[in-house]
Amino acid sequence: MPIISFASSKGGAGKTTSSIILGTELAASGASVVLIDADPAARLAKWAEISNLPDGIEVIQSTGERTILDEIDEAVSKAAFVIIDLEGSASRLASFAIGESDLVVVPSGEEQQDADAAVDTLAEVSREGRSRGKNIPAAVLLCRTNAAVKSRLEKFIQGQLKSAAPVFETQLHRRTSFSALHNAGAGLRQLDSKEFNGIEKAIANAQAFAAEVIDMLEEQGTSSDAA
Ligand SMILES: Nc1ncnc2c1ncn2[C@@H]1O[C@H](COP(=O)(O)OP(=O)(O)O)[C@@H](O)[C@H]1O
Ligand SMILES: [Mg+2]
Repeated sequence: MPIISFASSKGGAGKTTSSIILGTELAASGASVVLIDADPAARLAKWAEISNLPDGIEVIQSTGERTILDEIDEAVSKAAFVIIDLEGSASRLASFAIGESDLVVVPSGEEQQDADAAVDTLAEVSREGRSRGKNIPAAVLLCRTNAAVKSRLEKFIQGQLKSAAPVFETQLHRRTSFSALHNAGAGLRQLDSKEFNGIEKAIANAQAFAAEVIDMLEEQGTSSDAA
């Protein structure tokens, strides 16, 4: 069953939010998902405690580098998809998780700092693969972006990212309904449509991202039959 990690050396890149979006979207399509919170800041675990999780989702908090491989094994044995939300700095825990991953998603905004952190993270994934004698697929996810026309600087930064790694065609735009997930403790479909505008657009955006992740896994032959 595929293991998808969200990694970036930059705090605030969008790892946790994008993990929640992917996890809840896959679960909404009927798949079983285990999300592993591998960040000591435990933002994902906090999200899971706010309200009842949507059907099909389980969240576990990793207890650290000594246990992460066992936690991943257990998650793989019971779910169609395993999603790992990593901390924003290089660590043995992150190396272990990246080494097990079928796909590493590297979220990035459209500022130079984000792009630099994404490129560093991609290099880290590549080193991790080399040390294990295998290729670990990685792709950049542009997130917190504006849906409007891109400035020259934004295009330049996207160009840098595209020359470093595949970039998801879908961007997770900056949307209140995405950031609101942290407060709601659930998925987009559980948000109150009276309180948030554009939930339907956000769902379509999230679905497009999940579909691209599945395509990428299928290309490598690691997609889940249960998906
Ligand atoms: N696509 C998005 N739209 C709106 N807000 C976002 C989006 N992605 C992330 N955020 C917000 O940016 C902040 C940092 O995101 P987070 O996912 O916690 O980053 P990380 O896990 O990489 O540190 C959070 O406040 C989150 O709500
Ligand atoms: Mg986080």
